Amino acid sequence: MEWQFDKIEKEAQAELEAVNGQGGLEAFRIKYLGRKGIVQEIFSSLGSVSAEEKPRVGKQANDLRNKLASILEEKTLQLRAETSKETQYTLDHSLPGVAPSIGHAHILSQTIDEICSLFEKLGFTVQDGPEIETEFNNFTALNIPIDHPSRDSFDTFYLEAEDRSNKGRYLLLRSHTSPGQVRILKQFPPPLAVIIPGKVYRPDAVDASHSFMFHQIEGLLVDRDVKFSDLKGLLTVFCQRLFGKDIKMRFRPHFFPFTEPSAEVDISCYICKGKGCSVCGRKGWLEIMGSGMVHPKVFEAAGYPKGKYTGLAFGLGVERITMLKYGINDIRIFFENDKRFLEQF
Ligand code: DAH
Repeated sequence: MEWQFDKIEKEAQAELEAVNGQGGLEAFRIKYLGRKGIVQEIFSSLGSVSAEEKPRVGKQANDLRNKLASILEEKTLQLRAETSKETQYTLDHSLPGVAPSIGHAHILSQTIDEICSLFEKLGFTVQDGPEIETEFNNFTALNIPIDHPSRDSFDTFYLEAEDRSNKGRYLLLRSHTSPGQVRILKQFPPPLAVIIPGKVYRPDAVDASHSFMFHQIEGLLVDRDVKFSDLKGLLTVFCQRLFGKDIKMRFRPHFFPFTEPSAEVDISCYICKGKGCSVCGRKGWLEIMGSGMVHPKVFEAAGYPKGKYTGLAFGLGVERITMLKYGINDIRIFFENDKRFLEQF
């Protein structure tokens, strides 16, 4: 058979010209230079060529193979250069990069940090207590009587009995941070001044102002001769630093089993300056925290000598303060992880 070497070469050249990717190069190689390709077919047919023709046809076949191999290599290099040029142009170094989104402390953590650092400047240290507490620390040591409604399982999440053989010793999710007072009194000798921030739990139905979990900050200061005037002075300084110098304070008599006397602390509404508005419910005052002088029964439960020390205590709700400060009207929004809300702070 007579091979048309020129024709094969021209066709191959034209075909290769049209190739524009890696796949095309490989298909070309298989078709012409592969084990079952055209060049191989020509070499296989040499056996049937006459002896005098063989050298000429053999040389033509060799030339064709070399030619095809060299134009394939050329094309490969050319395509490689083009793609690297393209990537050079698509990478525009002057464009701004993709900024990674950086998180920040949650608004409740920011409020806790702010309050803690205000008290630290006043000489307090920050401590924490466990969220799983004993019934003793959460109630009994705080002089909360056995029939007090807050002990009811409608108001406290009980876990299993700590000691099944000893009825009544239950573990629970602390319903306030006040049990931290008992732990601190047992752990550190007076004089002491601590604040204890943390999560507390109550089985309340969730609505705009209730959550089954929220945050409180407890304060406790114990020394000889701590007076109610110390409590008033301390909390006045704190509230003025948090809400502004212009606010007025009101200490309203109240009852807490673990303090005597006790007071609820109000500040004049910083929105309407006491005139009455929707934030303060037209009252002109905002309730901020509970407070009082540590009850002798609490000292007794912690093993203190009778009458030697006095102390002041207070407890405030972090969500409430944050809501007042920023005009937030639904507690649930703190816990929904909605970035549109979280990013505002
Ligand atoms: N534990 C109280 C509550 O959850 C708040 C409180 C009131 C804490 C008076 C105190 C205090 O330390 O003296 O409602």
